[in-house]
Amino acid sequence: MKLSVFGTGYVGLVTGTCFAEMGNDVLCVDIDAAKIESLRRGEVPIFEPGLEEMVQDNAQRGQLQFTTDIELGVTFGDVIFIAVGTPAGEDGSADLQYVLSVARSIGTYMETDKIIVDKSTVPVGTADRVQETITAALSDRDAQISFHVVSNPEFLKEGAAIADFMKPDRIVVGSDSEYAADVLEQLYAPFNRNHDKVVHMDRRSAELTKYAANVMLAARISLMNELANLADRLGADIEAVRRGVGMDPRIGYHFIYAGAGYGGSCFPKDVQALIRTAEAVGYQPHIMAGVEAVNRLQKRVLFDKLFQHFDERIEGRTFALWGLAFKPNTDDMREAPSCTLIDLLTSHGAQVRAYDPQAGAHAHRLYSDNSRLTVCDQRADTLENAHGLVVVTEWNEFRSPDFNLIKGALAEPVVFDGRNLYDPDYLKRLGFKYYAIGRGS
Ligand SMILES: NC(=O)c1ccc[n+]([C@@H]2O[C@H](COP(=O)([O-])OP(=O)(O)OC[C@H]3O[C@@H](n4cnc5c(N)ncnc54)[C@H](O)[C@@H]3O)[C@@H](O)[C@H]2O)c1
Repeated sequence: MKLSVFGTGYVGLVTGTCFAEMGNDVLCVDIDAAKIESLRRGEVPIFEPGLEEMVQDNAQRGQLQFTTDIELGVTFGDVIFIAVGTPAGEDGSADLQYVLSVARSIGTYMETDKIIVDKSTVPVGTADRVQETITAALSDRDAQISFHVVSNPEFLKEGAAIADFMKPDRIVVGSDSEYAADVLEQLYAPFNRNHDKVVHMDRRSAELTKYAANVMLAARISLMNELANLADRLGADIEAVRRGVGMDPRIGYHFIYAGAGYGGSCFPKDVQALIRTAEAVGYQPHIMAGVEAVNRLQKRVLFDKLFQHFDERIEGRTFALWGLAFKPNTDDMREAPSCTLIDLLTSHGAQVRAYDPQAGAHAHRLYSDNSRLTVCDQRADTLENAHGLVVVTEWNEFRSPDFNLIKGALAEPVVFDGRNLYDPDYLKRLGFKYYAIGRGS
């Protein structure tokens, strides 16, 4: 099939590339000219394992092309994916300006029948708005061309995006047109061979399914973090509790790690957006509001432990920080707990020397005006004479460091572990003061 994909971020680029990999002709469209230029050179501007090689292969085979030409983008594909950003607006609701701008362009330039697929995470009712927007643009130019709008939310995880797209758990297709649903089913057939993963439903339910999934996952994290904070106060160990509850097959082990709070480009904004959606229809969502409130506090927990340890005197001290990305295997720092920590430490007069295997360049750009943050190229460079080590992201390379080397380098042997990576007894035996999340300190 001939496909156009609007938006070449984490979702659009992975979607376009994976469809090209299966033999479709794909044109990826973005308004960011620098991004398109670098993609044309075969350089992927984000870190996502395996993506760059796949982009280069498909571009070389002529299966995958890139453009900033919106009109060409609209006319090229029989199926047009909308995969642009839906950031939080000022009141926390999803900002639909990018989605609706693509819809207007589609209505302005389309000459033949199209299937339009909403892949961005969008509030319930957005497919209707996309349909209205296209209809209005068509009627402005007295054009009568038929089109269908389908909701097909994306569930990929950054850091494992290609694997998730190639082997999805489910493919949600929300459509009120049997024809459009069939086309999508054909398009997804190569990803759906092992057993049928397509779930058909109406558009509104598909839109809500995406938010429901993210809110449920975020709720598990916040609940575990709340239990961890309780464990700290009760002298219990949340890691033992995690194993104990995870063994219950009704609960399971996924997403029950206590930590420094969730971040990223999805959970925080999606929980907020669903709260706003609920309020807009006169419903007060108590659990979702709690999920968000707990997470906001949780992002401070590492700082609070550190601040207390130093009797609230951290001005002039230097801290080593490991992990800037909001989770491992990505360079994405959107809403990352590391940002909350850096802001709190530096605004209290401390210096931070930070290291991340992938997000360093991003942090450089983000904090170019904060002279109290130094981004280091090597993790060892963060340690020399620092007054403590704070671990914020659970990258594999942080799991078994040389603690003797760390102890020798630090001015004070104290570790604040925001991901419960280390064995508290072992660190104590080595002479560290060790703080973790929900482990009694
Ligand atoms: N990142 C994830 O892990 C993930 C997972 C599932 C769903 N989603 C959802 O998918 C959507 C996209 O997320 P993302 O992380 O890929 O976003 P992103 O910010 O990485 O990329 C969005 C891209 O859209 C481009 N864009 C904006 N307006 C445009 C227009 N009019 N025409 C063409 N391009 C335009 C931007 O320049 C940018 O490159 C969001 O709704 C997000 O919630 C994200």
